[in-house]
Amino acid sequence: MPRYPDSLINLIRERVDLLELIGRQVTLKKQGSSWMGLCPFHNEKTPSFSLHPDKGYKCFGCGEGGDAFAFLMKSKGIGFTEAVEELAAMTGTPLPRSHEAEDPEAIRRRESRRRVLEILSATRDFYQEQLAAPIGSSARHYLEARGLKPETIRRAGLGFAPLGWTRVLDRFGGGDAAGELLEMAGLVVRKDAGEKLYDRFRDRIIFPILDLKGHCVAFGGRLMGPGEPKYLNSPETDVFQKGKLLYGLNDAQIAIQKASGAIVVEGYMDRLALVDHGLENVVATLGTALTTDHLRLLWQRTRKIYFCFDGDSAGEKAAWRALEMVFDGLEADHHASFLFLPKGEDPDQVVRREGAAGFLERIKTGLSPIEFLIRHLGVGLSAHSPEGRAALVHRARPLLSKVKDPLLRELYAETLSQRLQIPTQFAQATTRRPLAETGRIPPRMPPRPVHTPNRRAMAERDHEQALLALVLRYPRFVMEREEELSRLQLENAQLFALLTELIELGHQFKETPEIWPMSRLSSKEMGQWVRTILAAEELAPEMAEREFEGCLTSIHIKALRQERVRLMRQIDLEGDFDNTLIKRCCALKLEEQRVLGDKVV
Ligand code: UTP
Ligand code: MN
Repeated sequence: MPRYPDSLINLIRERVDLLELIGRQVTLKKQGSSWMGLCPFHNEKTPSFSLHPDKGYKCFGCGEGGDAFAFLMKSKGIGFTEAVEELAAMTGTPLPRSHEAEDPEAIRRRESRRRVLEILSATRDFYQEQLAAPIGSSARHYLEARGLKPETIRRAGLGFAPLGWTRVLDRFGGGDAAGELLEMAGLVVRKDAGEKLYDRFRDRIIFPILDLKGHCVAFGGRLMGPGEPKYLNSPETDVFQKGKLLYGLNDAQIAIQKASGAIVVEGYMDRLALVDHGLENVVATLGTALTTDHLRLLWQRTRKIYFCFDGDSAGEKAAWRALEMVFDGLEADHHASFLFLPKGEDPDQVVRREGAAGFLERIKTGLSPIEFLIRHLGVGLSAHSPEGRAALVHRARPLLSKVKDPLLRELYAETLSQRLQIPTQFAQATTRRPLAETGRIPPRMPPRPVHTPNRRAMAERDHEQALLALVLRYPRFVMEREEELSRLQLENAQLFALLTELIELGHQFKETPEIWPMSRLSSKEMGQWVRTILAAEELAPEMAEREFEGCLTSIHIKALRQERVRLMRQIDLEGDFDNTLIKRCCALKLEEQRVLGDKVV
């Protein structure tokens, strides 16, 4: 990594015309000594982005701010060094050669990369000229018939590779050196591995593929009529690796930030059709399965990815592969959804028929990862039979265990168990390694003393009833712990009514009474109820305090869990667009862990 001295950085900063740099992306209006415009980093209707050409920029809406370097880094998603290099080039500031550049092998590689990029860029210009020329009229008609707006065609830099074997070769002189370079750039093919070269793209619409710096690194070419293959893409080269690039990301990244989400589609045309309808936060995979590099590129920019798959078997396959990738290392607050379009349709067709609003409506109905998992793995299994449900859990196990965030993994296990109506701990056991394996507890537990209320025994008891038995026998609990007790929400209405009465009754005493005067209870039924409780709950007096704490904890935990279950059902049914529900789930889970950590030894 080359490092540049501060003096040089300062020089570049002084030379950059911030107004021009930012003005390329933001329409600015003069206001006093500063300029105002709509912030490119978040979505807004009234301008809160302000620019002082001498000082820097600042958005009062989202807080983004800084100098030219910061602006370029943020808007292009590039690093500081790259920003320095770009602005140095823009301002004509020579940069010292880096150490890396002194290594002859590195110089050679860099030089060859530079020449490959140069010829790719020149070829793109050539294809664009051809689209505009008389020879491109059929291609122009094709694009028009596909409904693309001229502005979209221009922005995407579409071109046309005319029919012929050596058009590109001829354009660059056809000599050996040019041929070799074109071959390195993937633009020509060697016939039968012999001497003869010919153009790779012939009679095709050309889609330039840009890297994150905006360099053209490859092309996709579409036939306008029937034939095979429909799309031809550049081969992998020094500058192009499909698995590391998403079509349109360079153009889409600001829109992804603004929309707080990225839409991933399968085809070039799908992306362009959506752009045509004002949806710009869209990228397409390049005819390959989704890779971890693709995901990294996206998660670096957003917390929400909406996958949209064609309604065909290839789409379902691509989606499953994407799900496997998504689960791998999934973190909390990473939200992915999976939308499947109706049979035989793709985003291009849907957005042209239903418009942007219709498409977004559909996007909202995408499946969460866990829903998609259940749907996909459940194919061919009977979700009603114990065997089918068990098989599904077994199939889900390897995937769920890949989720990186332990909390999220647990929430998924819980959703799975609810959906299959199996006990939660059973689904959890399938996503965790056995405790003995983790080395945290010895594989054999020492025997417990008979009276210790262990967690399991507690779980099987009716804690609400046990709590009432305690407060009935020992009025001091009501007197001393009134605040906590009055906050409790008991499920059993009768017990709740009794507890409320006891708290009320407690107010009539100045000192803690030895026993409750049962005659003062509101009804005979209540008295009867009290006797039943006391008969059912036996207790050693020395255990009272401990039992009381245990009951409070268990009731608290149960309430937290129920709320979480309710939220997860809601997420399942309605989705969770801005993650508020999943965040509440996480908070509840943390609270649960806190309560357990505090109280249970
Ligand atoms: P589609 O066939 O769904 O493409 O393939 P599309 O974008 O909807 O194309 P139109 O609407 O028919 O023009 C999806 C993607 O798969 C890759 C391309 O990247 C394409 O955009 N693909 C498809 C190929 O690489 N080769 C092919 O022969 C077909
Ligand atoms: Mn299509």
